[in-house]
Amino acid sequence: MNERIRVMFSEQEVDKRIAEIGAQISEDFKGELIVAVGILRGGVYFCSELTKRITVPVILDFIEASSYGDSTQSSGQVRITKDLIEDIAGKNVIVMEDIIDTGRTLCLLLDNLRKRNPKSLKLCTLLDKPDRRIVDVPVDYNGFQIPDQFVVGYGMDYAQRYRNLPYIGVVEFE
Ligand code: IMP
Ligand code: MG
Repeated sequence: MNERIRVMFSEQEVDKRIAEIGAQISEDFKGELIVAVGILRGGVYFCSELTKRITVPVILDFIEASSYGDSTQSSGQVRITKDLIEDIAGKNVIVMEDIIDTGRTLCLLLDNLRKRNPKSLKLCTLLDKPDRRIVDVPVDYNGFQIPDQFVVGYGMDYAQRYRNLPYIGVVEFE
């Protein structure tokens, strides 16, 4: 099956929105230290770009959870496949994710991180697809709300491709 990618948010639009979120986080955490937890692999570009726009001290760390195979449907299973290096006890943690779909991945991850007793725990996502939500997760910072469409780019993949697109696109099957 062939697919085409239609632009949903251009590189400029994404950059602008990330700068806004970065400014907001910098304001909210004035005088504090943040541990930015990027979720591999999809959250890596968002986390990289966003942390560059945060002006308070940032410790960068990554965690990997798997929930999707090479298809556009959730398997309904999530597990931590690569853990953090940092001890987050007593620290301000901001989880940085590419997209929240059913919410299953984030729910498991947030429960896991909460047990490590951070000072605060916030969730920041580049995209939110609320129509698809199965598990309720509180989103503290959101880039864009989108309809139920499968998107790629800026870290997001279709069968592991397109993660490196500098914009966000919708996959259209021909
Ligand atoms: P959830 O547990 O269903 O919320 O799954 C979230 C994860 O599924 C995200 O971190 C993405 O890796 C993946 N995902 C969900 N929707 C899309 C999409 O439209 N494009 C690419 N990946 C997606
Ligand atoms: Mg992901």
